[in-house]
Amino acid sequence: MKYTPHKGVVIDDNYKILYFTMKTFIIAAVSADGFIAKDSNHPAFWTSKEDKKRFVELTRQAGIVIMGSQTYKTLPRALKERTNIVYSRTHQTLEGALVTQDDPHTLLAKLEAQGATEAAICGGSQIYSMFLKAQVVQKIYLTIEPLLFGKGISLFNEACNIHLELKSSETTPTGTLLLEYNVRYTGAPEVKHLP
Ligand SMILES: NC(=O)c1ccc[n+]([C@@H]2O[C@H](COP(=O)([O-])OP(=O)(O)OC[C@H]3O[C@@H](n4cnc5c(N)ncnc54)[C@H](OP(=O)(O)O)[C@@H]3O)[C@@H](O)[C@H]2O)c1
Repeated sequence: MKYTPHKGVVIDDNYKILYFTMKTFIIAAVSADGFIAKDSNHPAFWTSKEDKKRFVELTRQAGIVIMGSQTYKTLPRALKERTNIVYSRTHQTLEGALVTQDDPHTLLAKLEAQGATEAAICGGSQIYSMFLKAQVVQKIYLTIEPLLFGKGISLFNEACNIHLELKSSETTPTGTLLLEYNVRYTGAPEVKHLP
């Protein structure tokens, strides 16, 4: 049997989620050696103007930005005109944000039940990894900036083996690469997305 506990979510007899209609994407910028930051306190202001423009456009379109508390702390304030959802185990409240500890499936189901259709996963490494592992990410918008950090925080903090399909790529005059990938969770389709 299939049930629809919330609009846009279909579960089976074992409460396993079969379908989401919610669209979820990761958006990130990395150095050419694969780091999103030098350390947890490093704000993401080092990226190109083209990356910042794409970030603002896509996250405003989504309307919901989801991030970890370390990333939120690097921002001067909440991202305006977007619902800021912040993962934290230690903070009950954070100014300008809704604090959560929900697993990705539960959070997305709740958001979908409230009428949301799209959510942007905005990092950092811990939150990117948690959503990728939960198999709820459909797209990755990745910017590769032409600089090296040598060491730092990797895009993901756990091993994974996930195939990506390159949908589009653009190179800016200053050598930034703007990539768009579809995520292929081959072999383990626990959560399917409706087209
Ligand atoms: N280049 C880019 O595109 C980009 C994008 C985003 C971020 N960044 C950078 O990445 C760095 C931060 O990344 P990060 O990986 O260190 O930290 P993070 O993912 O931003 O946040 C980690 C925090 O999230 C909370 N958390 C993690 N898992 C949780 C769970 N299951 N339930 C509830 N809360 C949970 C914890 O908060 P508490 O400690 O409060 O409990 C944890 O300390 C910053 O330097 C930032 O600027 C770069």
